[in-house]
Amino acid sequence: MSGSDIESELQAELAAEMSRRTSKLPPPPPEPSDDLVASLCLSALLALLALLAGTGVAMALGYAPAADDAVASLAWLELSFAGRVLRAAHFHASNLVVLLALATLGYMVWRGLYRRPGHWRWWRVAVLLLLLLAAGFTGQLLPFDQNALHGTQIRLGYLGDVPVVGPLIADFLRAGDEPGTAALARFYALHVLVIPALLLLLLRPLWRDARANGGQYVHFGAAGAVLALVLLAAFVVPAPLGMQGTLAEPYADARPEWYALPLYELLKLMPAGAAQTLMLVLGPLLFAVVVVALPFAERVAAEPERLKLPARIGLGVVLVAMLLLGALPLLQDSSDKRGWFASYDVEGLMLAMGSRNDALGPEDATLPPNAHLHAHDLRLLHERLIGVYPDDIDADARTKWDAWARDGASAALALFKAADSDAQQQALKDLRQACTSCHEAHEVDVIVNPLAQTQGGAALTPMFFDTALLASLEPRELRARGTKRIMDQARFRMRDILAHAGIVDDVTDRSKEQALVDLRHISERIASLWEDNAGSWFDEDKWQAWSREMIAAVDRLALATDREDLAERMAELGRTCEACHDGGDEPDMPIEWRYRNLLQ
Ligand code: HEC
Ligand code: HEC
Repeated sequence: MSGSDIESELQAELAAEMSRRTSKLPPPPPEPSDDLVASLCLSALLALLALLAGTGVAMALGYAPAADDAVASLAWLELSFAGRVLRAAHFHASNLVVLLALATLGYMVWRGLYRRPGHWRWWRVAVLLLLLLAAGFTGQLLPFDQNALHGTQIRLGYLGDVPVVGPLIADFLRAGDEPGTAALARFYALHVLVIPALLLLLLRPLWRDARANGGQYVHFGAAGAVLALVLLAAFVVPAPLGMQGTLAEPYADARPEWYALPLYELLKLMPAGAAQTLMLVLGPLLFAVVVVALPFAERVAAEPERLKLPARIGLGVVLVAMLLLGALPLLQDSSDKRGWFASYDVEGLMLAMGSRNDALGPEDATLPPNAHLHAHDLRLLHERLIGVYPDDIDADARTKWDAWARDGASAALALFKAADSDAQQQALKDLRQACTSCHEAHEVDVIVNPLAQTQGGAALTPMFFDTALLASLEPRELRARGTKRIMDQARFRMRDILAHAGIVDDVTDRSKEQALVDLRHISERIASLWEDNAGSWFDEDKWQAWSREMIAAVDRLALATDREDLAERMAELGRTCEACHDGGDEPDMPIEWRYRNLLQ
């Protein structure tokens, strides 16, 4: 055998071996930049951004960024069909764009598209997501309805918990003690100037990323599909708009946006304090580190393919955790009928109606300048009344009920739209006619024209307690068990209320409404305390009779109209306490407590 024969044989063997080996290797990973789906996602995102910009500009033409006008200006926009679709399109697009950005990021992790040389595109999408979240955060306050205001108040609270920079940013955004017109101006400026300007910087490179793959037509197809989806949703489902935002009235329905639900639940599961703060800092930080570091991680792993599996597992774990955490509050809410599942009862709706109706003042007088806001609220409340009945009415009465509720809603709408004071007066009369028609049929004895409530026609004195607030509060848990401790609690709550009225010199951090609700709860507990005191000085009938008197006196206290009235009613309550204290059968062991002790 000659040398060249051996050589060629060896070479042939080598070639065979090589081909065997390469056929076992997986195909080389695609260049990160050539992925059609990612490019199409980017096209769809760009289309949504364009839609958001267009609808945003159109809405800005009619939107009034002031605490007392925002809801009304949007309600005004919603009166026309085009306005309603416009606002709904902005709303749905803003949700879809976040969903799509999240999905794009997830897809890029799944396919390993964070790898160099595609890493810039990966970071761009992450920054896009951040800007979209900021736009969502600032946009949420703009309607300034109950959900917007209470939600923002909660979010700013969390933001303020972030150490060092948190309070600075939160205070800057809040622009005062609580979010109002000044805060609205800042949120509005960020939402329509600052964030769009930053997005504009991203636009060109994102545009190039999108065009890297696929022909023109598929891109038009992807963009057209999401736009069609948003428009379809906008025609069918309007954007929500609630009652005028006010922190004075609690709002148990405040819930975060869907994409913040997992974080919200995580915070709820954490004990308050250090753990929550840690979560608030570590969560976003971890996210940022992962996003920044992923493209570098492949350098450490000699073969980029090896990183793919851990990244996919990580993505799966995060996804499942988010879904579970997001579903938890929904499940809780749906069983408690809270949040998005809130259900209203007639009494609660009526109390809310009562306070707004009172604020409109007597007929034939000038309406207050914010009458349109009350009208808007009354319209919503009447609409909610449809289909919500007191338990015991038959089918016929239900039909009538709905008809009156609709009458009320349309009268409230007429009041909202009224162009002059004659039209206002007519609408107010119609509105109150709807109230009285329904009340008469249901034998409800409530005066809906405040004028009739006072003889001389003087303006109605505002209540000392806010009835709407009272109705929505629940008593705080009473930890004390023994008679003595519960009695003390009663005394403290009375003192809280007296302090609010300025009758005693004291400070309290419990609202007067909360103190009253607690006092009511305590007085009911006193009624049930007889067992503990049985056999000492009291017989049961007397104990129950005294307790009833006391509970009735607490209820009368709730009707106090002003400070003087309150002082009188409080003294009356004090007398019912003393009646029991004096009434023991064993006169040589009197109970020392006297109402006048409170006043010192
Ligand atoms: C469709 C029927 C209906 C309409 C319309 C209606 N109400 Fe009522 N209202 C009721 C019923 C029923 C009650 C008794 C509810 C209860 O206490 O359970 C009630 C009770 C009230 C109460 C007393 C609530 C309480 O528990 O102390 C007020 C205040 C009130 N309504 C105000 C108004 C005002 C103001 C309007 C009009 C702007 C109005 N209502 C329209 C049916 C109606
Ligand atoms: C149904 C009867 C009854 C009524 C009504 C009642 N109390 Fe008493 N109260 C008692 C009894 C019994 C004691 C003695 C408890 C003990 O020493 O264990 C007491 C004791 C007290 C004490 C003294 C507690 C102590 O530290 O020794 C205070 C304060 C007091 N009551 C406040 C009130 C107030 C305020 C009200 C009205 C809101 C009220 N009570 C209504 C039966 C009543």
